[in-house]
Amino acid sequence: MAYHFDKVIDRHNTNSLKWDALKERFGDADLLPMWVADMDFPAPGEVIEALKKVADHGIFGYTIRPDSFYQSLINWLERRHHWKVEKEWINICPGVVPALSLIVQAFTKPGDQIVIQSPVYHPFFSVAQQKGRELVDNTLLFDGKRYEIDFEDLEKKLSDERCKMLLFCSPHNPVGRVWTKDELTKVGNLCLKHNVLMLSDEIHFDLIFKGHKHTPFASISKEFADISITCVAPSKTFNLAGLQSSAIIIPNKKLNETYQKSLDIEDGNMSNSFAIAAFEAAYNNGEQWLEELLTYLEKNLDFVNKFFKEEIPNASVVQPEGTYLVWIDCRKLGLSAKELERLLLKEAKVALNQGYIFGKSGEGFIRLNIACPKSILEEGLNRIKATVNKHISK
Ligand SMILES: Cc1ncc(COP(=O)(O)O)c(C=O)c1O
Repeated sequence: MAYHFDKVIDRHNTNSLKWDALKERFGDADLLPMWVADMDFPAPGEVIEALKKVADHGIFGYTIRPDSFYQSLINWLERRHHWKVEKEWINICPGVVPALSLIVQAFTKPGDQIVIQSPVYHPFFSVAQQKGRELVDNTLLFDGKRYEIDFEDLEKKLSDERCKMLLFCSPHNPVGRVWTKDELTKVGNLCLKHNVLMLSDEIHFDLIFKGHKHTPFASISKEFADISITCVAPSKTFNLAGLQSSAIIIPNKKLNETYQKSLDIEDGNMSNSFAIAAFEAAYNNGEQWLEELLTYLEKNLDFVNKFFKEEIPNASVVQPEGTYLVWIDCRKLGLSAKELERLLLKEAKVALNQGYIFGKSGEGFIRLNIACPKSILEEGLNRIKATVNKHISK
């Protein structure tokens, strides 16, 4: 089947956070949204058909998760990520962020330290410093082109006896790194050495560009699997965030039981009948759609690269290895972060994420969502160009 990622679909008045919450989030409803990690593409046809079937049945009582639900994820992980997972390891949670929060509460206590690596997905900050936990930042290194982990600093931070957890983003949002097996092995060995739990948020695991390979942290060795909790979901891959369905994979039996107990306390183990159907259909039948999506995203990325090089050469695109979020260094534009934000909103009328929300190390950067039809991307970039070039040429 050929999918039509070029087709523009009006999302106004659909309760879309990306399109309908602009006034509330940015103070102006009349903006072109290029922010939150949500794609302007319909889900695979197979997913839509599965949802219609559930709707047509018409009874939406309490729902259980069938074996086929687990099997769809087990097969997907083995086929696409060479990770053999057992059914008993798989838990659920409506969203990855609620899961991260629950896990922090279940596995750490007030006074414990949790390491994050900024600039990073902004909810990590509130998750890691909730209820008396202390956030510790192992800031990523940036040489002007590519981000790397500062291993020396990481070891210093993990070796503090108060440090109990590494909240890891893999692939990394917003810097777009797909960590190599070598890098992951180094991180894992440090966690093992210092007895630190690895909480690996791998929600972007399927969105990987050519030439790169995502390695699930827990797939590297039995030892790593034993100290890890991995969060995945079909929500980013297939644009199903509104269905609220994610999987929390915990191979270690004791850790698994602790998670399940915490989820039970919250009565969070129930299922949504639409989410189950979509999850299964996506993992069983969505592969071709994903391949075509990735090709489309690469073309959009090529377009962004060429556009910035030719039209806004003072801003530089940090090459993403995965995700559909592009991190752009605007520090050479000669505008303060606040001024850039004001101009993009008030003049360009474009809503994107300002880098400083991802931590101090993100100041002066912007994060652009390229998962939209090329015509929308082009419109957004033209608006940014007109505004930026007007103000920097002064
Ligand atoms: C790294 C990361 N984790 C989690 C989420 C959100 O997950 P959920 O909607 O399942 O809470 C996002 C969304 O952008 C993300 O980038």
